[in-house]
Formats: sequence, C-alpha cells, structure tokens
Amino acid sequence: MTLLLLMMSVVTFIPQALGCYSSIISFGDSIADTGNLYNSSPNKSFDFFFPPYGETYFHRPVGRCSDGRLIIDFIAEYMGLPLVQPYLESHNQTVHNIEGGVNFAVVGSTALDATFLEEMGVYNDITNNSLRIQLDWFQEMLSFLCNTSSDCNKLLSSSLVLMGEIGGNDYNNALLGGKSIETVEKYVPLVIEAIASTINELIAFGASTLVVPGNFPIGCIPAYLTTYETSDESEYDPLTGCLNWLNKFSEYHNELLQRELSRIRSLHPYVNVIYADYYNAMLQLFQSPDQFGFTGETTKACCGGGGPYNYNSSALCGSPEANVLCENPAQFISWDGVHSTEAAYRWIAKGLLNGNYTVPQISTLCVSQL
Ligand SMILES: *[C@@H]1O[C@H](CO)[C@@H](O)[C@H](O)[C@H]1NC(C)=O
Ligand SMILES: *[C@@H]1O[C@H](CO)[C@@H](O)[C@H](O)[C@H]1NC(C)=O
Ligand SMILES: *[C@@H]1O[C@H](CO)[C@@H](O)[C@H](O)[C@H]1NC(C)=O
Ligand SMILES: *[C@@H]1O[C@H](CO)[C@@H](O)[C@H](O)[C@H]1NC(C)=O
Ligand SMILES: *[C@@H]1O[C@H](CO)[C@@H](O)[C@H](O)[C@H]1NC(C)=O
Ligand SMILES: *[C@@H]1O[C@H](CO)[C@@H](O)[C@H](O)[C@H]1NC(C)=O
Repeated sequence: MTLLLLMMSVVTFIPQALGCYSSIISFGDSIADTGNLYNSSPNKSFDFFFPPYGETYFHRPVGRCSDGRLIIDFIAEYMGLPLVQPYLESHNQTVHNIEGGVNFAVVGSTALDATFLEEMGVYNDITNNSLRIQLDWFQEMLSFLCNTSSDCNKLLSSSLVLMGEIGGNDYNNALLGGKSIETVEKYVPLVIEAIASTINELIAFGASTLVVPGNFPIGCIPAYLTTYETSDESEYDPLTGCLNWLNKFSEYHNELLQRELSRIRSLHPYVNVIYADYYNAMLQLFQSPDQFGFTGETTKACCGGGGPYNYNSSALCGSPEANVLCENPAQFISWDGVHSTEAAYRWIAKGLLNGNYTVPQISTLCVSQL
C-alpha cells in the first residue's frame, strides 16, 4: 500500500518537472491550430468542422484537425498550463493576454506569404493567414501588454514559443497541386528563411525559449501514399511502407532548418533555440507500431473515403462522402489521411518532452531554469 502510494506520487509529480514556463505562444498550421480557423470562419463548411472530428476527447468538433488533442495540448498539459487559447476568439474578437498562452496557428497556413506562393502557381484553398500575418497579430497583441523593451523581455522570458510546425503546407499545396519535386526543392531555402526571420523577430521582441519543429515524414502520410501510389516496390521502405523519396525531401528540409538554427544559436547564445524532431518522433511509430498500440494498418487513415490507404480527396473525413471510420482511433497513426490521431500526437509529444527528440533536450533546459 505504501509502495503503491509512493509510486503514485512519483507518477503525479513528473508532469510538474516542466512547470517553469508560464505560457505557451504558438505559431503554425493545422498541426497546432486550437481553433483560429474555426472561430474566424463561422460560416465556412470545411470538412474538419464536422463530426467525427473531436470525437475522442472533446466529443464534438472544436476546430482541431484530429479526433482529439494535438501535440501542443499535450505540451500544455505536461507543463501544468491550460490548453492554449486561439488568438481569434468567437465572432472574430481577438485575445489580449498571454496568461496561460495564446495560439496564432491557423489550419492551412504557409510559411511563405500566400501572394508570393500564388505568383509561383501554388494555391491555398483554406487560408491566407501565413506566418507573416501571424507575427503581425502577435506584435499587435504585444502592444497592449508592454510598452518598453525591458517590459516585453520580462513578459516573454517565461514563455515557451512553439514555432510550428510550419512550412508543411507550402510543400503540400505545391506537390499535391502537381508541381514536381525538383521544383518544390527550390522552395526549401525560402521556407527556411521565412521561419528563421520570424524567429529572429521574436528574439528581438524578447522571446528567450523557442521550440522549432521540423517536418513530418510525409512519405508515410496516406494523402501522399495515395497520390503517388506506384507498382515499383523499390520506392517503398520495406519496414514501414513509406515512400522513400518523400521522406528524403522532409529530411532535406529538416537538415537545412537545423543548420539555420545552429546559426541563430551562435548569434544569440543566451536564447534557448530547441529543435523538435517531429520526423523521427513520428517515424518510430511506423517502425515499431506494436510497441505503441497501433494495431490497425499503419499507412491507412482511420477516417476517410476508402481505398488502399482509406484516403480519397473527393470523400474526405468529415464530409458526407466519407464512408469508412475505424472503431478505435487509438489503433491508428493517421486520423484523416493528412493529420494524425490523438494517440499518435500523444506519443510524439511524449518523445519530445522526455528529451529523446529535442535538441538540446527540452527537459534539461527547464531544470536548469528552475
Ligand atoms: C476579423 O475582422 C477584421 C476587421 O473586421 C477583418 O479585417 C479580418 O479580416 C477578420 N479576420 C478574419 C480572420 O476573419
Ligand atoms: C454567418 O451566418 C449567419 C446566419 O446565416 C449570419 O447571421 C452571420 O452574419 C454570418 N457570419 C459571417 C461572419 O458571415
Ligand atoms: C486569399 O487571397 C486571395 C486574393 O486576395 C483571394 O482571392 C482568396 O480568396 C483568398 N483565399 C482564402 C482562402 O481566403
Ligand atoms: C503603455 O503606455 C500607455 C501610455 O503611457 C499606458 O497608458 C499603458 O498603460 C501602457 N501599457 C502597458 C501595458 O504598460
Ligand atoms: C472517391 O470518392 C468519390 C466520391 O464519393 C467517388 O465517386 C470515387 O469513386 C472515389 N474514388 C475511389 C478511387 O474510390
Ligand atoms: C528514449 O527512447 C529509448 C528507445 O527508443 C527508450 O528506451 C527510452 O526510454 C527513451 N527515453 C526516455 C527518457 O523515455
């Protein structure tokens, strides 16, 4: 009995290990949006505004692109903070405090400006609120909270800035819109530059801890597996069933991003710039699915319009045409063919927070701050 109590107290104490941040400030796309698109487009009928989105945790659609919580929600829970509120509140009112956190991420958002991408023939059907606009929102909000740079520094010094994931849609919209991989590879340095310049501006505002995620292994994503399905077996990784060339593309983005982060660290030695390895944190799920409870087919979406990967762009999850819904989303990595299940996001968040997939380890950093 005593032993059990002791064990329980140990377990309940671990989550407070990261209690050293008072808020999370987030930028990004659907991987982190906790309601901005939902609140700002009340009359739009995006598929992800409809059931079964949200069924697992919130029991209704809440504007998150999953069956439940996202990586950012698990980070907030782990730090003992409330779930991060979207900047765009209902009726298009904006939030003017950062207590507990504020989220600027918008479903569909790109790192590069929408107009710039349009000039290159890359179109966005969901939002024009790219990273630059999210930073403008942040700056506007900050002007209500602090006037002097020392006040702003003080305000932001206990915040954890989550910078992404962002950039994924720049590539999704281009590749799934028919651009060749050779063309899209040329966007990578531009995307990295957009992310880096946002980080530099945030540091100038006073941000002192930034977590910067890389891209996921997109070769494992049902939308890509469906679009680029081929009978040439050599294009697939025999262990995971993922498309090698697409994963190599993500690795290329991540390599350039990490190189840029090293440069930023050397210019700002007193700022914590943490790389979050979303790529490997997710890839491990495909490599040993049983270990994580993913007993469904790993390259199949839980919710979709059927087919070998349960993904059909004309019958997306949430639309009336979607006709396949798995019984237990926790057994699947992919929720809707693009986004992951709450179960997958939970394991990814765990991998980040326990230090296996953050460089430098987010856990050590926090302890040294206490
Ligand atoms: C919110 O309202 C402002 C002013 O009415 C408008 O300029 C802006 O485009 C709206 N934002 C969204 C995301 O709808
Ligand atoms: C949404 O639709 C409702 C009812 O049709 C209307 O009253 C409201 O003004 C609309 N909101 C926006 C932002 O267009
Ligand atoms: C983005 O902006 C362009 C040009 O202003 C507009 O035509 C388009 O409808 C916008 N897209 C979205 C999704 O709001
Ligand atoms: C900023 O300055 C204005 C004018 O001096 C003042 O009224 C306001 O309270 C200040 N805001 C903050 C957050 O300190
Ligand atoms: C995809 O969904 C559409 C709309 O329901 C359907 O007409 C089409 O046959 C489906 N395609 C495949 C390959 O199943
Ligand atoms: C990191 O990953 C290894 C192997 O995947 C695992 O055994 C270890 O427990 C993880 N570390 C932590 C702190 O959980």
